[in-house]
Amino acid sequence: MPKHSLTASFLLRQMEAKMRNYKDDFPLLKSTDISYLDNAATEQRPAVVLEAVRDFYEHSNANPLRGLYSLAYDATEHYENAREKVRGFIKAPKTSEIVFTRNTTESINLVAYSYGLNFLHEDDEILITISEHHSNILPWQMVAKKTGAKLKYLECEPDGSYSSEKLRAAVTEHTKLAAMAQVSNVLGSENPVKELISLVHGNGGAVLVDAAQSAPHMAIDVSDLDCDFLAFSGHKMMAPMGIGVLYGKEELLEKMPPFLSGGEMIEYVTRDSATYAELPHKFEAGTVSAGDAIGLSAAIDYIESIGMDNIHSRETELTRLLFEEMQKIPHVNIIGSPDYRNHSGIVSFTVDGVHPHDISAILDEDKVAIRAGHHCAQPLHAFLGIRSSARASLAFYNDESDIERFIKSLKTLRRRMGLGE
Ligand code: ALA
Repeated sequence: MPKHSLTASFLLRQMEAKMRNYKDDFPLLKSTDISYLDNAATEQRPAVVLEAVRDFYEHSNANPLRGLYSLAYDATEHYENAREKVRGFIKAPKTSEIVFTRNTTESINLVAYSYGLNFLHEDDEILITISEHHSNILPWQMVAKKTGAKLKYLECEPDGSYSSEKLRAAVTEHTKLAAMAQVSNVLGSENPVKELISLVHGNGGAVLVDAAQSAPHMAIDVSDLDCDFLAFSGHKMMAPMGIGVLYGKEELLEKMPPFLSGGEMIEYVTRDSATYAELPHKFEAGTVSAGDAIGLSAAIDYIESIGMDNIHSRETELTRLLFEEMQKIPHVNIIGSPDYRNHSGIVSFTVDGVHPHDISAILDEDKVAIRAGHHCAQPLHAFLGIRSSARASLAFYNDESDIERFIKSLKTLRRRMGLGE
């Protein structure tokens, strides 16, 4: 295609994206009057995803990778096509490097149990950050306890950023495993994963990237990142709950033992031993979540039909609006960076004198859904000197009316708690 027609189609898509009401694509958002601002917890499902799952079970349902009949071949083909779709989405070199799991937590546990317990030793260091989600902390606590490796935390600056200086000082010749979220689920800040990877590789270690909060909102290229492992969840990017992804470099996955064992992950089994299936099936024991994988594939198609660039710019614009309006309200304290561009659609906050659970309950009365609590990041909250916070998180299908309703409700909050304006 000539270059000018590529530019024209890009501009057309950008214009269409500006004019579309994305809520029309989501049955729940169309049929309820709710301002859903808890997208970092889970996103809504568009009709195309729900239809793809239903279509699989209506027309292609059989247990994939087993039956030697046409319907089972059809089911297997759908499942493996979904894997290929995911490979392309994160630009992995090979489909053998894409393992389907239940979610990010299971993906990280797979690496902790299979890689951590077998390849880390006493005197090694595991480096994580203070702003990790519990699912990127607890598995490493377990590995440290069982292997004797030391678990080290990198602490962020008051604005949630990680300085190059501290990063360089934290990575040592003993750092054999580092794990970092690409985007924090509380602060919304994008972390310097590429810099970490290059430093840790320089010392012969491996790096896991938790992409749970980045995969739905920005283009990911594992080849460019050069990460060793990358984990994300389908449900945070409009796919069904129950499907997650682990990307791992083939050379590492090859040498790792299975995490779970049982059906379909074997090659040959005797009374006393077994040999294992080829990658990635070695890591997919038992009946797979084929319908959910097919839903994930449909979600990727939907994202690609809009364009990740359009999703990103729409979410940045909504974040700006949300952020600027919140900054004007007295007694509202935004956590993390004072610059909306460092929030990736996530704005956590406190309100003077009001417990975050009460913030959420009052907003719920006004049909606004946000999350309140520690957001599975208690070490970060302790580091910040607070026990909990409230969090509004956006997706591209939110609109200005959601933000307006949220702000209106937030403005009345303290008065409704009997605290004055
Ligand atoms: N990890 C999800 C969140 O941050 C559940 O809300």
